[in-house]
Amino acid sequence: PFHIEDFKRELIENIRTTVGSKQVVCGVSGGVDSTVLAVLLNEAGVNVRAIFVDQGLMRKNEGDEVRNNFHRMGVEIETVDASERFLTALSGVDDPEKKRKIIGELFVDVFWDAVGNAEMLAQGTLYPDVIESASNAKSKASKIKTHHNRVDRILELQEQGKVLEPLAELFKDEVRALGTSLGIPQDILMRHPFPGPGLAVRCPGIITEDRLEIIRECDAIFISRLKEYGWYDKVWQAYAGLVPVKTVGVKGDERSYEWAITLRAVVSEDAMTADWVELPSALLRETSNRILNEVKGVNRVLYDISTKPPASIEWE
Ligand code: XMP
Repeated sequence: PFHIEDFKRELIENIRTTVGSKQVVCGVSGGVDSTVLAVLLNEAGVNVRAIFVDQGLMRKNEGDEVRNNFHRMGVEIETVDASERFLTALSGVDDPEKKRKIIGELFVDVFWDAVGNAEMLAQGTLYPDVIESASNAKSKASKIKTHHNRVDRILELQEQGKVLEPLAELFKDEVRALGTSLGIPQDILMRHPFPGPGLAVRCPGIITEDRLEIIRECDAIFISRLKEYGWYDKVWQAYAGLVPVKTVGVKGDERSYEWAITLRAVVSEDAMTADWVELPSALLRETSNRILNEVKGVNRVLYDISTKPPASIEWE
């Protein structure tokens, strides 16, 4: 049988051996994987710098929450505010793969600018990321999308043996078990996964500050309703995204011509496949009413009832 305590001890031993006295840097996003990674490295007692890059694609209040969470766990992190650089680089770009490439490469640039000449890079890559990227590489026809942690620059580093991926054999539930055994609070471990490219993959078409702001407001309402109704922990992932289409409606006595937004809530074992969730209609109704009343620029709320496959969890 698989014992998480033994596994943890072995991981820590391996990390100490591989790293020795070198300095390791790791990016933290506030997500479960990078949080477990940072706490694990901290626990291993190696020389680590944890860096949080704000790419301007975070959800509402996310930066503050992340900083608070690490503060609670006694792990020091450094913040780099690169939101302007990202939004400028993304300006006018609407092709999903181009957006991902820009974000991935800029992330690496910003990150290495911040770390200077660190000797090793640690990443919270999980097993499903490894297989999805591998199958992408094998067949060009089945190239689904470029995961941000598998861009060329990182592949180069990998070839030089400078990338440490201690979670690469684990599925999400095993990462959570490891996190629990490392003493990470449950509310942090139960956070939904959030993609590296952030809200960009929930904002099809061009990315503007206005559009991101709409997504942030709608998402915050949806997530707060899920928590209120006790559904947050029952779903794998949930979010609001923008449908980059304006449609006609009526607000007050006036014709409106505003954005549509989509709500998505899925259950999944490992993100390789997913099913949409039959949320209670009261929850959906309250979410929709609040969004339509409170969020300027939105006059239509849709609920995404697509399984993965053929859809993916994110929109890009
Ligand atoms: P898809 O949209 O491919 O998403 O069904 C599967 C899971 O992966 C997350 N995701 C990403 N995570 N970098 C990440 O770290 C990425 O580029 C990325 N793209 C998607 C997504 O949120 C879902 O949990």
